[in-house]
Amino acid sequence: MKNSIKIVTLCSILASGTLFAQDSAQELFVQKCAICHVLKMPTDHSKMVAPPARGVMFHMGEAFKSKEEIKKHIVDFVLEPTKEKAICKSVKRFGLMPSQKGNISKEELSKVADWMIENLHMSKEEHNKNKESEK
Ligand code: HEC
Repeated sequence: MKNSIKIVTLCSILASGTLFAQDSAQELFVQKCAICHVLKMPTDHSKMVAPPARGVMFHMGEAFKSKEEIKKHIVDFVLEPTKEKAICKSVKRFGLMPSQKGNISKEELSKVADWMIENLHMSKEEHNKNKESEK
């Protein structure tokens, strides 16, 4: 009996720990990335300063086979972006993303990348529809 109480307590501590990690990764994204990479698809595309967050992840999904490769690219690119590394063609429209070195640590970025991979999805159909509306 006592043991099962201990297990329940341990589980809820672990669960709240994971929830907090998710929340804080999302918060980091909102604070440090969403200023440029908006989370909601904008209705007025002329005001965009960078590809919307889910659009970025659509291109990551097209370019890489595994989550590990996507994560590696995000962590590397955000700290050391170059035109050669950029996968999104919008680098031509928006210019190269400024390095976020000093704004976000590698550790934080690793959490943010995991959160982006798990939470920001966009289907091909949705992506094509958005491209249409830009014409
Ligand atoms: C000042 C605006 C700005 C901020 C802040 C910003 N970005 Fe970007 N980001 C851009 C622009 C513009 C591009 C598109 C051009 C390019 O690829 O360099 C881009 C592209 C990207 C790409 C695609 C790279 C590729 O291969 O094409 C990723 C991934 C990315 N950003 C992640 C992030 C993350 C994560 C953060 C927060 C830590 C962040 N960005 C903060 C402007 C920004």
